[in-house]
Amino acid sequence: MGKITISTLDEMKRAGEKIAVITSYDASFTRQIEKAGMDVILVGDSLGNVVQGHESTLPVTVGDIVYHTANVMRVSERCLVIADMPFMSHGTPKQALDTAGRLMKEGGAHMVKIEGGAPQLETVRHLAARAVPVCGHLGLMPQSIHQLGGYRVQGRGEHEGERILKDAVGLQQAGAQMLVLECIPALLAEEITRAVDIPVIGIGAGKDVDGQVLVLYDMLGITMHDTLSFVRDFLAEEGSVQGALRAYVDAVRAQAFPAEEHTFK
Ligand code: KIV
Repeated sequence: MGKITISTLDEMKRAGEKIAVITSYDASFTRQIEKAGMDVILVGDSLGNVVQGHESTLPVTVGDIVYHTANVMRVSERCLVIADMPFMSHGTPKQALDTAGRLMKEGGAHMVKIEGGAPQLETVRHLAARAVPVCGHLGLMPQSIHQLGGYRVQGRGEHEGERILKDAVGLQQAGAQMLVLECIPALLAEEITRAVDIPVIGIGAGKDVDGQVLVLYDMLGITMHDTLSFVRDFLAEEGSVQGALRAYVDAVRAQAFPAEEHTFK
């Protein structure tokens, strides 16, 4: 099988084939993930929680993401690898370009991910015009946790839903080539997925999106918090890391995950 590129993912969206995405932060798990047939790896700033033990993603630095992306890239063979732009690393288009430069040149990432809608459009335009592939991130944005006042489902009110939809279309127009939707009602996620041509990857966003992403440690059941309602513990079901990863890829492809019980209304 050839390397996964953004063209592969566009083609999968057009063909209705679901895209399997997982986070990874090191070489050993990345080898397992590649072997399981995953499409995309996200070096998420969730590493602040699951690797570093922080309460939030806010303390994660650009250097941290560069380090973990390089760990992943050293052994990754086929997956498209996305690196997160951490909190306070993309405040202006110039700062974002400097950060993206480090994530791609030093870390080796193929794409960068930025949380935010309307306030990020100028930055996304700036990056896209300079050959930086960008993935947007809307809905629950963990870097805005203190503004949001907690980890809660977003987009439930009519106006909030309309704003997220508008942001998604705006991000595509600004040049974003992929989009993550986190913890929003399934119907809203479906509407957004139909409204844009770029692949839409959901986490707690129902099954009618183009693909799914989970935090690796969550689907292996080794996080410190109680199991989140939108997560399935694949390791408990399968008994081995490789079995869990393969079962996740299969469940995403077959739209068996997420099920009703992992979905917000
Ligand atoms: O940092 C991360 O792992 C993420 C996913 C939850 C989408 O942004």
